[in-house]
Amino acid sequence: MLVVGASRGIGRASALLLAEEGARLVLVARGEEALQAVASEVRDRGGEVCWVPADVTDPLQAARILEPLREEGIDALVHAVGGGIRVPFAEADDATWQQALELNLLTARCGWCGSCSPPCGRAGGSSS
Ligand SMILES: NC(=O)c1ccc[n+]([C@@H]2O[C@H](COP(=O)([O-])OP(=O)(O)OC[C@H]3O[C@@H](n4cnc5c(N)ncnc54)[C@H](OP(=O)(O)O)[C@@H]3O)[C@@H](O)[C@H]2O)c1
Repeated sequence: MLVVGASRGIGRASALLLAEEGARLVLVARGEEALQAVASEVRDRGGEVCWVPADVTDPLQAARILEPLREEGIDALVHAVGGGIRVPFAEADDATWQQALELNLLTARCGWCGSCSPPCGRAGGSSS
C-alpha cells in the first residue's frame, strides 16, 4: 500500500493503522527525517515498510515512488497530501491558485500509479 503525505497528520495516522492490520507500506513525503520516524513507528507495530522522500508535484520525483512498487504494484493508495491557500482571497494570484490545484487535485490523479503494473484499483474499488 502506498501512503502519500505519510509523515504527519492523516497520512501518518493511516500508516500506523494500516501497519496494525499487517499492511506492507511505502511512505512518501518530502521530509526524510519525519518519514524515517514514521517508518520506525510502523515497524514497532509489526508493519513492513520503506519510504521514498519525494515532492509529488515534481513529476521526476514522483516517478521515483514507482521504483519500490514495480514488482508488486499497489493494492491501495492513501493520498493525504494537500493544503489551503494561505493568503487573502483578493491577493491570491494565478500561480498561487495553480499551485493549490496541483497539490490538492492533480497529484491525486495517479498518473504515476497508473503506470504501475498491476495498477492500483485492480481489486475493483476506488474512492476519492
Ligand atoms: N486535518 C484535518 O482535519 C483535515 C480535514 C479535512 C481535509 N483535510 C485535508 O487532508 C489533507 C491532509 O491533511 P493533514 O491535516 O493530514 O495535513 P498535514 O498534517 O499538513 O500533512 C500533509 C502531509 O503531506 C506531505 N506533503 C505536503 N506537500 C507535499 C508534497 N508536495 N509532496 C509530498 N508530500 C507532501 C507532508 O509532509 P512534507 O511537508 O514533509 O512533504 C505531510 O506528510 C489536506 O489536503 C487537508 O486539507 C484535513
